[in-house]
Amino acid sequence: MSTFWVGDRLAVIGGGTMGAGIAALACEQGVPTILCEVDEAAAAAAAERVGLVLRRRFEKGAISGADFEDSRSLLQPASKLEATADAAVVIEATPEDLELKRRLFGRLAEIAPDAVLASNTSSIPIAELVGGEEFASRTLGIHFFNPPGAIRFVELVRSQATSAMALGRARGLVAALGDEAVTVADGPGFLVNRCARPYYLESLRIAERGDASPAEVDRACEQLGGFRMGPFRLMDLIGIDIGLAVTRSMWSAAGEEPRWRPSPIQEEMVAAGRTGRKSGAGFYSEQGDPLQLPGVIASADADPEAVLLRIIAQLVNEAWFAIDAGVAAAADIDRAMIAALRYPRGPVEWGAELGLARLVAALDQLAGPQGDPAYRVATGLRAAAEG
Ligand code: NAI
Repeated sequence: MSTFWVGDRLAVIGGGTMGAGIAALACEQGVPTILCEVDEAAAAAAAERVGLVLRRRFEKGAISGADFEDSRSLLQPASKLEATADAAVVIEATPEDLELKRRLFGRLAEIAPDAVLASNTSSIPIAELVGGEEFASRTLGIHFFNPPGAIRFVELVRSQATSAMALGRARGLVAALGDEAVTVADGPGFLVNRCARPYYLESLRIAERGDASPAEVDRACEQLGGFRMGPFRLMDLIGIDIGLAVTRSMWSAAGEEPRWRPSPIQEEMVAAGRTGRKSGAGFYSEQGDPLQLPGVIASADADPEAVLLRIIAQLVNEAWFAIDAGVAAAADIDRAMIAALRYPRGPVEWGAELGLARLVAALDQLAGPQGDPAYRVATGLRAAAEG
């Protein structure tokens, strides 16, 4: 049968930020979990990270003392991949390195011949991880969001080869974890990272052109738009280098799609080591003061309504590109963006409310007489606006 039964074991490969979070969630939900690291010291450190996550849950009152102990006893740290042999599902959560992941999948396929093999990759298409391998049918993406214990939502990424059995068992695991899921098609950025790209890239274009400063954009998004964090503050938090790597990988995977072109601002800041909070300086200083951007002279006084509308227009446009490409259905896109990134509204519904014709007119105006391809309107969006 193609489900995940009570008592079935989960194996997580890599016990860093995500792997430890996923393992902690699984143990808390009563799923016996093997957590596999590179060696014994790394396995012990990973087990400690899981223990810390569970302890925090206990201290917050989210789990009882007995559950805290039970959860911890469900964790089995390991330093050899062979420990995963009888797992029903294996989730790979090692660094975002294609060659490393490919090697691991090849070995896991032999060691765990009956397991469903999943990757938590945020940007590598699943088809690229497993190519035409015989085990591609039992491989898929289970993409968690950070931190997995708080964002109870995953994207299930189905490649062309993923079987119904593999998807069914992954859904069973997600249900056992108590998470919500949407199933999305394989491809650059899957659903959430793809549909979120314009939040950063359109904001960077606004800053590049001097149409508004990062602080003005952030204020418009937070105060008018209801986003929890403006795009520039968020880029500083995530790491400008991480954002650039995701953008670059999506841009090149999509044949240098102009909408996803990395911003020269990002490129220059990363080259200068100005990567956000972790380096002490990004778009803002450590004290939260706005910093001068490379290559940007000055910004005119911006109209916050216009700034917000422009960003939303591109979010709506990207959602429609995703619908056109068969990534997911409109309702799933809205659900995913709210659940995974806590967006104030789903982009498809937001667009309908603002008026699709108005958004298309704004995008056409931004494209200008030369038809800047960064503002090309999705076919489905234009049709819906005209219909
Ligand atoms: P991380 O660097 O915190 O952890 C990776 C762990 O994998 C390290 O503990 C490392 O020792 C271990 N590792 C490396 N090679 C290994 C091997 N051969 N066998 C076993 N363990 C090995 O990385 P992080 O941030 O947890 O990311 C992991 C994956 O999750 C990446 O694919 C990333 O794209 C994805 N992801 C990351 C998110 C984030 O916010 N950090 C969010 C969603 C997905």
